[in-house]
Amino acid sequence: MNSPVSLTPDQIAAVGKTSLRKYKQPPLVYRCYCENVLHCSGRVLDYGCGRNPVYVPVHTGMELVRYDICYFPERPKGEFDVILVSNVLNVLPNSKSVVQTIGDIAGLLKPDGWVFVNFPSSPRKGRLPDGTVIGHDWVEILLKLTFGEVKRMQEFGTKSSPVFICTK
Ligand SMILES: C[S@@+](CC[C@H](N)C(=O)[O-])C[C@H]1O[C@@H](n2cnc3c(N)ncnc32)[C@H](O)[C@@H]1O
Repeated sequence: MNSPVSLTPDQIAAVGKTSLRKYKQPPLVYRCYCENVLHCSGRVLDYGCGRNPVYVPVHTGMELVRYDICYFPERPKGEFDVILVSNVLNVLPNSKSVVQTIGDIAGLLKPDGWVFVNFPSSPRKGRLPDGTVIGHDWVEILLKLTFGEVKRMQEFGTKSSPVFICTK
Protein backbone atom coordinates (compact mmCIF):
# COMPACT_ATOMS: atom_id res chain seq x y z
CA MET A 1 0.00 0.00 0.00
CA ASN A 2 1.27 3.50 -0.75
CA SER A 3 2.21 5.95 1.98
CA PRO A 4 -0.25 8.84 2.46
CA VAL A 5 2.81 11.13 2.55
CA SER A 6 3.61 12.28 -0.98
CA LEU A 7 7.38 12.06 -1.51
CA THR A 8 9.15 11.27 -4.78
CA PRO A 9 11.48 8.23 -4.94
CA ASP A 10 14.46 10.61 -4.73
CA GLN A 11 13.01 12.31 -1.65
CA ILE A 12 12.38 8.89 0.00
CA ALA A 13 15.99 7.90 -0.66
CA ALA A 14 17.16 11.22 0.83
CA VAL A 15 15.13 10.84 4.06
CA GLY A 16 16.33 7.21 4.30
CA LYS A 17 19.97 8.30 4.17
CA THR A 18 19.50 10.30 7.36
CA SER A 19 19.14 7.07 9.36
CA LEU A 20 22.73 6.05 8.68
CA ARG A 21 24.01 8.28 11.46
CA LYS A 22 25.40 6.42 14.50
CA TYR A 23 24.39 7.50 18.01
CA LYS A 24 26.42 7.02 21.20
CA GLN A 25 23.23 6.46 23.21
CA PRO A 26 19.56 5.91 22.30
CA PRO A 27 18.00 9.04 20.78
CA LEU A 28 15.96 11.32 23.07
CA VAL A 29 12.48 10.17 22.04
CA TYR A 30 13.26 6.56 22.96
CA ARG A 31 14.79 7.63 26.28
CA CYS A 32 11.78 9.86 27.03
CA TYR A 33 9.44 6.94 26.28
CA CYS A 34 11.41 4.50 28.45
CA GLU A 35 11.50 6.90 31.40
CA ASN A 36 7.82 7.83 31.21
CA VAL A 37 6.25 4.47 30.37
CA LEU A 38 7.55 1.82 32.73
CA HIS A 39 5.46 -0.95 31.27
CA CYS A 40 3.41 -0.87 28.10
CA SER A 41 1.17 -3.83 27.35
CA GLY A 42 -0.38 -2.30 24.25
CA ARG A 43 0.58 -1.67 20.64
CA VAL A 44 3.64 0.52 20.06
CA LEU A 45 4.55 1.92 16.64
CA ASP A 46 8.11 3.07 15.88
CA TYR A 47 7.22 5.50 13.07
CA GLY A 48 10.25 6.30 10.90
CA CYS A 49 12.25 3.64 12.75
CA GLY A 50 15.28 3.85 10.41
CA ARG A 51 17.38 1.12 8.85
CA ASN A 52 18.55 -0.71 12.02
CA PRO A 53 15.90 -0.11 14.67
CA VAL A 54 17.07 -1.31 18.08
CA TYR A 55 15.91 1.17 20.67
CA VAL A 56 12.52 0.02 21.99
CA PRO A 57 12.45 -2.58 24.80
CA VAL A 58 9.64 -5.10 24.27
CA HIS A 59 7.61 -6.21 27.30
CA THR A 60 5.29 -9.19 27.69
CA GLY A 61 1.92 -8.38 26.17
CA MET A 62 3.30 -5.56 24.09
CA GLU A 63 3.32 -5.54 20.30
CA LEU A 64 6.05 -3.49 18.63
CA VAL A 65 5.45 -2.52 15.00
CA ARG A 66 8.11 -0.82 12.88
CA TYR A 67 7.35 1.44 9.96
CA ASP A 68 9.71 3.41 7.77
CA ILE A 69 8.88 4.93 4.40
CA CYS A 70 12.31 3.87 3.09
CA TYR A 71 13.26 0.65 4.97
CA PHE A 72 10.01 -0.90 6.33
CA PRO A 73 7.39 0.43 3.92
CA GLU A 74 4.58 -1.98 4.74
CA ARG A 75 1.80 0.20 6.12
CA PRO A 76 0.99 -0.41 9.81
CA LYS A 77 -2.44 -1.93 10.37
CA GLY A 78 -4.91 -0.71 12.99
CA GLU A 79 -4.37 1.86 15.72
CA PHE A 80 -1.67 2.22 18.36
CA ASP A 81 -1.44 3.03 22.07
CA VAL A 82 1.97 4.68 21.65
CA ILE A 83 3.63 6.13 18.56
CA LEU A 84 7.33 7.04 18.70
CA VAL A 85 8.50 9.60 16.12
CA SER A 86 12.22 10.05 16.64
CA ASN A 87 14.27 12.36 14.41
CA VAL A 88 11.71 12.11 11.60
CA LEU A 89 9.90 15.45 11.15
CA ASN A 90 13.19 17.34 10.81
CA VAL A 91 14.37 15.26 7.82
CA LEU A 92 11.27 15.82 5.69
CA PRO A 93 11.81 18.14 2.71
CA ASN A 94 8.90 20.56 2.98
CA SER A 95 5.95 21.77 5.03
CA LYS A 96 3.44 19.73 2.98
CA SER A 97 5.17 16.45 3.88
CA VAL A 98 5.39 17.48 7.56
CA VAL A 99 1.64 18.27 7.61
CA GLN A 100 0.85 14.95 5.89
CA THR A 101 3.11 12.98 8.24
CA ILE A 102 1.59 14.48 11.39
CA GLY A 103 -1.89 13.78 9.96
CA ASP A 104 -0.89 10.18 9.23
CA ILE A 105 0.42 9.74 12.79
CA ALA A 106 -2.80 11.18 14.28
CA GLY A 107 -4.84 8.74 12.17
CA LEU A 108 -2.83 5.78 13.51
CA LEU A 109 -3.28 6.78 17.18
CA LYS A 110 -5.96 5.27 19.44
CA PRO A 111 -8.31 7.86 21.02
CA ASP A 112 -6.47 7.50 24.36
CA GLY A 113 -3.01 6.95 22.85
CA TRP A 114 0.23 8.91 23.22
CA VAL A 115 2.69 10.26 20.65
CA PHE A 116 6.33 10.90 21.62
CA VAL A 117 7.83 13.19 18.99
CA ASN A 118 10.84 15.50 18.69
CA PHE A 119 12.13 18.19 16.38
CA PRO A 120 15.95 18.33 16.61
CA SER A 121 17.80 21.51 15.72
CA SER A 122 20.11 19.63 13.37
CA PRO A 123 19.68 18.63 10.66
CA ARG A 124 16.64 20.61 9.55
CA LYS A 125 15.89 19.76 5.95
CA GLY A 126 12.37 21.15 5.55
CA ARG A 127 11.46 24.42 3.88
CA LEU A 128 8.29 26.49 3.97
CA PRO A 129 6.89 27.61 0.59
CA ASP A 130 8.79 30.93 0.93
CA GLY A 131 12.09 29.02 1.28
CA THR A 132 12.68 29.58 5.00
CA VAL A 133 13.68 26.63 7.16
CA ILE A 134 10.85 25.03 9.16
CA GLY A 135 11.32 25.94 12.83
CA HIS A 136 10.36 24.24 16.09
CA ASP A 137 7.67 26.86 16.81
CA TRP A 138 5.95 26.10 13.48
CA VAL A 139 5.99 22.38 14.29
CA GLU A 140 4.62 23.02 17.79
CA ILE A 141 1.69 25.03 16.37
CA LEU A 142 0.95 22.25 13.89
CA LEU A 143 0.99 19.64 16.68
CA LYS A 144 -1.37 21.84 18.74
CA LEU A 145 -3.76 22.14 15.78
CA THR A 146 -3.74 18.34 15.37
CA PHE A 147 -3.80 16.98 18.93
CA GLY A 148 -5.94 17.89 21.95
CA GLU A 149 -2.95 18.21 24.28
CA VAL A 150 0.70 18.84 23.50
CA LYS A 151 3.13 18.79 26.43
CA ARG A 152 6.74 19.86 26.05
CA MET A 153 9.01 17.52 28.01
CA GLN A 154 11.27 19.93 29.91
CA GLU A 155 13.78 17.25 30.99
CA PHE A 156 14.33 16.16 27.41
CA GLY A 157 15.63 18.30 24.59
CA THR A 158 15.89 22.10 24.66
CA LYS A 159 13.68 25.03 23.71
CA SER A 160 14.93 24.96 20.12
CA SER A 161 15.21 21.18 19.97
CA PRO A 162 12.08 20.01 21.79
CA VAL A 163 10.53 16.66 22.67
CA PHE A 164 6.71 16.60 22.97
CA ILE A 165 4.11 14.15 24.27
CA CYS A 166 0.81 14.53 22.40
CA THR A 167 -2.61 13.05 23.15
CA LYS A 168 -5.91 13.35 21.28
C1 LIG B 1 17.05 10.22 11.02
S1 LIG B 1 16.21 8.71 10.71
C2 LIG B 1 15.64 8.33 12.36
C3 LIG B 1 15.64 6.86 12.63
C4 LIG B 1 15.26 6.50 14.08
N1 LIG B 1 13.88 6.85 14.36
C5 LIG B 1 16.21 7.17 15.03
O1 LIG B 1 15.80 8.07 15.79
O2 LIG B 1 17.40 6.80 15.03
C6 LIG B 1 14.69 9.23 9.91
C7 LIG B 1 13.90 8.07 9.33
O3 LIG B 1 12.56 8.49 9.12
C8 LIG B 1 12.07 7.89 7.95
N2 LIG B 1 10.92 8.71 7.50
C9 LIG B 1 10.93 10.00 7.14
N3 LIG B 1 9.70 10.41 6.82
C10 LIG B 1 8.87 9.37 7.01
C11 LIG B 1 7.46 9.18 6.86
N4 LIG B 1 6.66 10.18 6.46
N5 LIG B 1 6.95 7.97 7.13
C12 LIG B 1 7.76 6.98 7.55
N6 LIG B 1 9.10 7.07 7.70
C13 LIG B 1 9.66 8.27 7.45
C14 LIG B 1 13.27 7.90 7.02
O4 LIG B 1 13.16 6.93 6.01
C15 LIG B 1 14.43 7.62 7.97
O5 LIG B 1 14.77 6.24 8.01
